[in-house]
Order: sequence, then C-alpha cells, then structure tokens
Amino acid sequence: MSAPRNDAPVLELSELHVRFTVPHGEVHAVRGLDLQVARGEVAAVVGESGSGKSAAMLAVLGLLSPNASVTGSVKVDGQEILGAPGGVLRKMRGGRLGMIFQDPMTSLNPVLRVGRQLAEAVIIHQKVSPKQAEAKAVELLEMVSIPNAKVRVRSYPHEMSGGMRQRVMIAMAMANNPQLIIADEPTTALDVTIQAQILQVLARLRAEQGVSMVLITHDLGVVAGLADTVHVMYAGKVVERGPVDELFKRSEHPYTRGLLDCLPRLDRRDADLVPIGGMSPSMQDEFVGCSFAPRCPFVVQRCREEEPLLRPIATTEAACHLSPLPARMSPVEIGARR
Ligand SMILES: Nc1ncnc2c1ncn2[C@@H]1O[C@H](COP(=O)(O)OP(=O)(O)OP(=O)(O)O)[C@@H](O)[C@H]1O
Ligand code: SF4
Ligand SMILES: [Mg+2]
Repeated sequence: MSAPRNDAPVLELSELHVRFTVPHGEVHAVRGLDLQVARGEVAAVVGESGSGKSAAMLAVLGLLSPNASVTGSVKVDGQEILGAPGGVLRKMRGGRLGMIFQDPMTSLNPVLRVGRQLAEAVIIHQKVSPKQAEAKAVELLEMVSIPNAKVRVRSYPHEMSGGMRQRVMIAMAMANNPQLIIADEPTTALDVTIQAQILQVLARLRAEQGVSMVLITHDLGVVAGLADTVHVMYAGKVVERGPVDELFKRSEHPYTRGLLDCLPRLDRRDADLVPIGGMSPSMQDEFVGCSFAPRCPFVVQRCREEEPLLRPIATTEAACHLSPLPARMSPVEIGARR
C-alpha cells in the first residue's frame, strides 16, 4: 500500500451512489454525494431519517449489506478504496479508520471482557506482545476517562452502563491511532448528561490527538459543540455545507433553515419548535428538479424542472435556485409567501 499523502484530504467522496436492491425495485439511498474532510477537521453530517447518512458512511467502511451496490469514488488519504480487495478495507477498519456506532452492544462481544476485546483490536493491527496489548487496553480506557481502568478492563460489556460501553467503543476506535473516526449517532442512545460526557471525550481526543471525524447526528446541539463544518444531507445528497458558525448564523438553503427552526433558541422570542412540514421523499423514486420542492416554502416553477447544483453563495455552498435567500424569515412570513 502506498504511503499516505499528507496534502490529501483524509476523506474524499466524489459522486458516491449507493443503491439497494429490494423486492419491488431499488432504493437509491445516496445520490451523487461529494464530501471532503481535511486533516484534523470534524465534519458533521446532518439530515433527517432516511437521507442516506449511514448508507454513505457504511459504503466508506465497506460494511453495507450484500444487496447494496456502490459507485463513485472513496479516497482515504488520497488512496482509492472503492473496489479495493477486501483485505485492504479490513486492514483500514480499526486501523486508519475508526468507527463508533449508536449501539455499542451490537459491536461489542458480550462474552468477552472489554480488556480482551481492546487487546485483540490492538494485536490485529500492531506488532505487540499480549502483555503489551493488555497494557495498551488499560491506557485506552484511561484515554476515554473510564475510572479505575485497571479493574474495568476485566468487566464484561453487560456489567457496564450505556455511557461506559460507548466509551469502550471510542477506546476501540482509537486503538490503532486512526486518522479518521466515523461516528454514527454516537450519543443518540444515551441520556442527556451522559451525552455531554461522551461529547467531551470526543472533543478532548480531537484536541489532544488531532484525529479527524465524520460525525453523523440528528442533533444540531451536538454539531454546534464539536464540529468545524456541517454537511446537510437531503434525499441522498448534500444540499448545503459550510463552516459551522457561518451556517448557523445564516443558512442559504430552505431545508437547512427548516432544521434550524426546529431548534429552541434562547436569543429568539419565538422559541417554539417549528417542525418541517411534509414528508421526506421515497428513496425508491427518482426526482425531476429539486428533491425538496414538495416541502419548500420558497418553491417556484423552475425548481420542479431543473435540479439545483451546489454553488458558493456567501459563506456557505447551497444547492438552491433561489439562494441567496432573503434574510432569515419567520415561519409566519414564509407561510405568507406561499
Ligand atoms: N440494507 C438496506 N436495504 C434496503 N434499503 C436500505 C438498506 N439500508 C438502508 N436502506 C434505505 O436507504 C435509505 C437511506 O438509509 P440510511 O440508513 O442511510 O438513512 P439515515 O440518513 O442514516 O437515517 P437515520 O437518521 O434514520 O439513521 C432509506 O430509505 C433506507 O430505508
Ligand atoms: S431550488 Fe426551489 S424548491 Fe429547491 S430548495 Fe431552492 S427554492 Fe426550494
Ligand atoms: Mg443512520
């Protein structure tokens, strides 16, 4: 395998498509996704359920179900991995690529002590003795702030709380000094205070180890706390992306505005949650024009005929014919425009 190129993005997806064969046709889950993550960057991927976030990242990890087909390009450190032999991906997973999923119980082996699982993860990728791997397991648990790590390495997963198990998963993801961690809803299954602790661990690892991350989340609060950039997905594509502060200050896509309106805001008097109206589209259909048109408060005839492409607006890039949009409008004003 060639040595990583330091100037290349850690992750670069181009024109990525994921299709699932299902009994009555095909689900076109990811539809030409372009996404780059620079070294040291935390890139949040947000979007409602079914928008293709997990499918895209499982494609990167080579973990999609057998009914999936993937086209396009996936480069890790400048190296194309789509279509690479299984061995290349296996070596990357748990090595250069770490992963954290929502439910640690599905990834941890219930009949093995966590220390043993961590040590095995180390031994697969590094030339170390069993003793050194055991010591590394303790070190990894300490790294994710598990108290009394020397004792805790001997616990089975079911003897730990949900938050602690998720820390073990993070430790596992960090076991071989990864360049990139893909975290898919890492805090969703946890209660709020534990969520905050897990985010602190991730933020510290990012600061201390400089690890890059793709962070998939429904939670814009999580995005604000941890991410540098936001990639907003709708119906299998990025519809807006930009630096987190800019995008929160002024989004240029009606869907992103809808998502932000769902957030309670302390700085606004109308702090009511405003759900986005309408249903997300069926990913078994192909669309003409803008996929958001059936739900968009700004829709005009052109939107139903011509697909908008991602283009730079002010401080973000948005795929909307009407961007730049008028300055933030309240939902009432948007309703009046329809
Ligand atoms: N193995 C599969 N077979 C068939 N369809 C699938 C499969 N996995 C995902 N899909 C479909 O692909 C689309 C995208 O799913 P995906 O899981 O990527 O969404 P998501 O954005 O991660 O949603 P969530 O926020 O709920 O996790 C959905 O329509 C989903 O039903
Ligand atoms: S292109 Fe049209 S329908 Fe699509 S988001 Fe923009 S205004 Fe709305
Ligand atoms: Mg998902």
